[in-house]
Amino acid sequence: MTNSSLAERIEELKREKNAVILAHYYTTDEVQAVADFLGDSLALSIKARDIDAPIILFAGVNFMAETAKVLSPDKKVLLPVPEAGCSLAESCDAEAFAAFKAKYPDHKVVSYVNTSVGVKALTDVCCTSSNALQVVNSIPADQPIIFAPDRNLGSYIQKLTGRDNMVLWDGACTVHEEFSLEKILKLKEEHPAAKIVVHPECKAYIVQVADYVGSTAGILEYCGQSDADEFIVVTEAGILAEMQKRYPEKRFIPAPPEDSTCACNECRYMKMVTLENILACLENESPEVNLDEDVRRAAERSIQNMVAIK
Ligand code: 13P
Ligand code: SF4
Repeated sequence: MTNSSLAERIEELKREKNAVILAHYYTTDEVQAVADFLGDSLALSIKARDIDAPIILFAGVNFMAETAKVLSPDKKVLLPVPEAGCSLAESCDAEAFAAFKAKYPDHKVVSYVNTSVGVKALTDVCCTSSNALQVVNSIPADQPIIFAPDRNLGSYIQKLTGRDNMVLWDGACTVHEEFSLEKILKLKEEHPAAKIVVHPECKAYIVQVADYVGSTAGILEYCGQSDADEFIVVTEAGILAEMQKRYPEKRFIPAPPEDSTCACNECRYMKMVTLENILACLENESPEVNLDEDVRRAAERSIQNMVAIK
C-alpha cells in the first residue's frame, strides 16, 4: 500500500471508531500527517487528559502512551510499537530509583515525564522540558529536591535557579547527548547569522553556545518570533518538518551527531512508529496499554501535580 492509501485507511478507521491520534514532533513526517494533535511532551500530556474520545492511539514512545493511560484510565490507549522505548526513561529503573530515594528521605522528588509509570509513582511532581523551571520554582527554596532522570536538564535548571539543594539522578537521552560541539561551531562559521537553538537535554558545553535553550515547543515558538532567517537546530530532527511548515521562509539546519556521517540526529525509538503499524493497531485495537491500578493512581498524582502548576 502507498503512504497515501495507508493514510486514507487510517482516516476512515479513526472516523469509524471515534479514535484520536496523538503524535510527538519526533515521529516521521508521514506519521505527523495523520495525527489529530501534534505536540511536545507537555502539550501531549495535557491533551491526553482532556481528550473526549473513547480511543487514543499514541504515535510516540511507550512512556508517553503510559502517561495518556494514567490520565485517561477509562479510555482505550493504543500504542502501535510497545517496544519503542526511550534511552532516558530506561536510564532510571524504578527499583534502583526507590533505593536512591530512600537515601534522601527529606527530599521532594521532581521527575521528568520521560520515566516509567513505576518511577512516576515514586515522584511528587512530574515536569517536562517546557515547565521544569516553573515546577522547581514552585517548590520552596529551602526544600531539598531529587531531580530525575535527566542530568543535563537537571544541571541546567540548577544553574538557572542557583539551587544548591538539588540531587540529580545520573540519566540521559542518548540522542541529545550525541551532538558534536565542533560540528555545530563549524556550521556557525558557515552560517554566521544563524541562531543556535538547543534542547536542554543536551550536554552543558552545547547549551553554553546556544542563543536559545528550550523544549521542542519553546524552540518552535522562538524560531517564529526571532528576526533571524536561519537556525542551527540542536535537537531531534523530526521537529524540522513542523518548523518548515510553520515558517517556510526561514531556513533550518540540523546539527549533526558526533560519531556519524549523518547530517542530523534522530531518535530511533520515535522512528519505529510507521503508517503500517498505526493502521494494524487501529484495525486490531491492539497493542493496548494496561496498568496496575495502584501504580497508576500513584503516578496520576505526580502528573496532576505538574499539570496544576501554571
Ligand atoms: P519535549 O517534548 O519536552 O521537548 O522533550 C523532548 C523529548 O526528548 C521527548 O522524548
Ligand atoms: Fe527518549 Fe531521547 Fe528519544 Fe526523547 S529523543 S524519546 S528522550 S531517547
